[in-house]
Amino acid sequence: KSIDNLCFKSQSKHNTSSVAVKSEIAQRKDQTDTIAERKPFYVLQEERLEQAERSVLINCPPKTNEKKFLKHLSSHGEINTCFFYESFGTYALVEFSKKESIASLQEWTIIPSIQHEATVPFKSRLVSLKLNNPGDLSSVPSSIQCLRQSAIPINELVQRLSGADTIDQQLYTLTETYQLTEDNVRLRFLVCSLLKDIAAAYFPECTVKLFGSSVNGFGKLGCDLDMFLDLDGISGRKSKKTAGPFTLEYQMKRVSSERAATQKILSVIGECIDQFGPGCVGVQKILNARCPLVRFAHQPSGFQCDLTANNRIAIKSSELLYLYGSLDARVRALVFTVRCWARAHAITSSIPGAWITNFSLAMMVIFFLQKRDPPIIPTLDQLKGLAGPTDKQLIEGHDCTFVSNINRINTTENTETLEQLLKEFFEFYGNFSFSKMSINIRKGKEQSKPDVSPLHIQNPFEQPLNVSKNVNQTQLERFVSLARDSAWILQQDGMSHPLGAGAQPWGLAALLLPSASQTGGKGKKRRKREPASERIKSLLESLKNNKPNSANGNGKR
Ligand code: GTP
Ligand code: MG
Repeated sequence: KSIDNLCFKSQSKHNTSSVAVKSEIAQRKDQTDTIAERKPFYVLQEERLEQAERSVLINCPPKTNEKKFLKHLSSHGEINTCFFYESFGTYALVEFSKKESIASLQEWTIIPSIQHEATVPFKSRLVSLKLNNPGDLSSVPSSIQCLRQSAIPINELVQRLSGADTIDQQLYTLTETYQLTEDNVRLRFLVCSLLKDIAAAYFPECTVKLFGSSVNGFGKLGCDLDMFLDLDGISGRKSKKTAGPFTLEYQMKRVSSERAATQKILSVIGECIDQFGPGCVGVQKILNARCPLVRFAHQPSGFQCDLTANNRIAIKSSELLYLYGSLDARVRALVFTVRCWARAHAITSSIPGAWITNFSLAMMVIFFLQKRDPPIIPTLDQLKGLAGPTDKQLIEGHDCTFVSNINRINTTENTETLEQLLKEFFEFYGNFSFSKMSINIRKGKEQSKPDVSPLHIQNPFEQPLNVSKNVNQTQLERFVSLARDSAWILQQDGMSHPLGAGAQPWGLAALLLPSASQTGGKGKKRRKREPASERIKSLLESLKNNKPNSANGNGKR
């Protein structure tokens, strides 16, 4: 592959990354085309991790000449992909065709000599490009173009949505705008692979896997990076006893429980990340949580990272969500939309607390879509019925079996539009009997609540657990009240099509504007005194007068 080809490839990536508002039909067709070639979740994960192992992250001076840079690097071997982005400096992710190129590059990488300071000589795949002759490269006019790795602020999104023609198009545009890009996914797997190199210093056969929204199809640009240190390849689970009179067994430290072992491992790896992990800052060991974890920021990528261990069920949850999201384009569009709506109204938060989580919201959307007539997606029990012999999985005594091959699942006969579904979603949860019933995606039916938690969503795999145990009554009431308000707004005249020139926020765009309840302390008091119809009237008034750029500008999550 010549350098010119590479530059062309890289350039065309820039073009495709700008979000064009496509017609619904084109978008649906794209989605159907990708579904046809969708690979099972675990195959995709392995491919991505293997790609990441052939990749490096390079901090570049801002005026680096892309062509010269690629030429220099290609002396180590053929380059598959390269893109640039900004995060505490300019970085390039470079993926080689062969893993040997990494060894070659590392052989030619020097350890910095810093005056008055010392370095920990841990050789990672995070390196810096230094200009031997700064005048030479920086004077070249064609410098690099950086790709955005964070979501656009919500006020820009509202403006973009106001320009759409239908509510369906708005939902697809929101999804396209917020979803993880190909580059961002590569970067996520690379960070995961860099972490593996650190953990491998203790556990050479370990793997670090991604789970959560980075891989479940519902990730928004800027979402956190959930990782899981998998030591199963090392531990006894997979080893076989030898034939003959003897067996050799490793002498190992013993600890009181699996949990204690996980805490010790994470404590040590957390220490390594803190002391030796290049670019890893703000390391916190949260070892007493229900699921012990190490939290830190990875500055070169800009990702907030959570590293857990012994967390295989969470990977199955991610695979399940991925499967549902792959079955029908409406699933992802509705999950993205509901998450964005919830964030815009502070129903969800990046701070842990009594709020509904994004994971719970996804479960609520899935449940709602299972309950349509005809259903848009199957229940978990139906997916279990379609499982092949290799799909059988029992994790810590919990049955996590379900089909991994998407082609075995029939497509739905349901033809409802997203506009209908969005309205019905708000009505469904605006009237759901939360006080008595539990949401169960395994059965696709609500069931009597087994305990008094305000919101009960049965954990699909650890069935006695409630996914939304943290949610208090106040937060549930806020969700229900906003769902009702939103259903009402969508029923108003002029809400389901553009309002003409001047592009006032309409449809989904109107739903994302801050509500009266969020306009400070005064708003809160008024909300208590006024009946709902008054509140909604004043909200609609405020929508009419509201310019899009006065919306909440928080782009994170
Ligand atoms: P973001 O908010 O975009 O990060 O969504 P997320 O799906 O990644 O959520 P989060 O980072 O909070 O959690 C990561 C993963 O852990 C989820 O996707 C689930 O698989 C799992 N998880 C999170 N919360 C719960 C919970 O309360 N119960 C169970 N069983 N799993 C959870
Ligand atoms: Mg997450």
